[in-house]
Amino acid sequence: MRLEVEVGGLRLKSPVMNASGVLEWDPIQARRLIDAGAGAVVLKSTTREPRRGYDWPRMVRVFGGFVNAVGLANPGAREASKLVRLIKDSLGGAPVIASAAGSSVEEFLEVSALLEDGGADAVELNLSCPHFRGGGIELGQDPNLVGETVKNVAGSLKVPVIAKLGLSDRLVDSAVKALGGGARALTLINSVKAIKIDVYTKKPVLSNKVGGLSGPAIHPIAVRAVYDVYRETGADIIGVGGVRDWETAVELILAGARAVQVGAMLLEKGELIVAEIIRGIEKYLWVEGIQSVRDLVGLAHKA
Ligand SMILES: Cc1cc2nc3c(=O)[nH]c(=O)nc-3n(C[C@H](O)[C@H](O)[C@H](O)COP(=O)(O)O)c2cc1C
Repeated sequence: MRLEVEVGGLRLKSPVMNASGVLEWDPIQARRLIDAGAGAVVLKSTTREPRRGYDWPRMVRVFGGFVNAVGLANPGAREASKLVRLIKDSLGGAPVIASAAGSSVEEFLEVSALLEDGGADAVELNLSCPHFRGGGIELGQDPNLVGETVKNVAGSLKVPVIAKLGLSDRLVDSAVKALGGGARALTLINSVKAIKIDVYTKKPVLSNKVGGLSGPAIHPIAVRAVYDVYRETGADIIGVGGVRDWETAVELILAGARAVQVGAMLLEKGELIVAEIIRGIEKYLWVEGIQSVRDLVGLAHKA
C-alpha cells in the first residue's frame, strides 16, 4: 500500500518503471523488471513502418551519462502489436505502456490503434525524440501540434494516452495543450539534444552527429521541468531523466511526479537498480514517518 500509486488512470504497485527505449522486445526481460518491483513496463517507441535505425556508432558514454542516436529502430507497428500481446501475457496483469512515434497525426493514430489492439494498457506518445527528423522534437516544440496530435489519438483510443514531452522553452504550453487534448498524464522529459566530438578525428562521434543526452547529467533539468509543469497544471506526471537511486527518484516525486522512469542507469545496471530504488523509497518513507508515496507528490511546492 505504501508504494501503490495511480497515474493517468493506471494503478501501479510501485512508482518505478523503465523508460521507453531501454528494454528489448523481450517478455523475459519485461517479466524480470516486474519481478524486481516495477509498477509497469514501457516499450520502445514504434513507428508505422519498420526502421533499422541509424548506423553505428549510435551511443557514446559522456560524463554523467550517454549520448544516443539509435534512430527509433523498431519492427513497425504491426509486428510491435503482436509483441505487445506476447509481453502483456507474460506479466501476470502488470500494466504495459506502449510507445508510439510518428511524423504525422495520421501515423500517430495508426500506430496507437495497433498498439491498443495488441493489449497495451496505455499509449505513451513520443512527441519529443531529439534525433528523429520530421517527428520528435520538432513536433513536441509546437504546442498546437502537440494538442492536435494528442486530441486525435486520445479521441480514438479507449486506453489512456500519455504525452511524452521534452525540454523546450514552451514546455508548459505544450503540457497545457496535451492535457487539453485529452492526455491523462505527461511523461517528462526525453533526452536532451547533445553532441560528443572526438578530439582526434575532430568529428562528432555518432553517425547521426546529434543525439540525446540521458543519465545523471540531465537529472536537475528533469526536476525543474516536472516542477514547472506540476506548478502550472497539477497534472499526473511521470518523471524521467537521470534517475540513478532512490534519492533522485524521490526528488522527481517531490517536484510533482506520481511515478518515475529509469532509462540510462537501467541500461548500465540492469533491473537490480529498480529493486534498489524501491527499497530505498520504502526506507525513506519509514524514516520520515510518511504513510504512502502518494503523500510525497509535489511536496516541494509547499516549502
Ligand atoms: C538508448 C536509448 C534509447 C531511447 N529510446 C527511446 C524511445 O524509443 N522512445 C522514447 O520516448 N524515449 C527514448 N529514450 C529516452 C528515454 O526514455 C528517457 O526519456 C531519457 O533517456 C531520459 O531518462 P534517463 O536519463 O533515465 O535515461 C531512449 C533513451 C536511451 C538512452
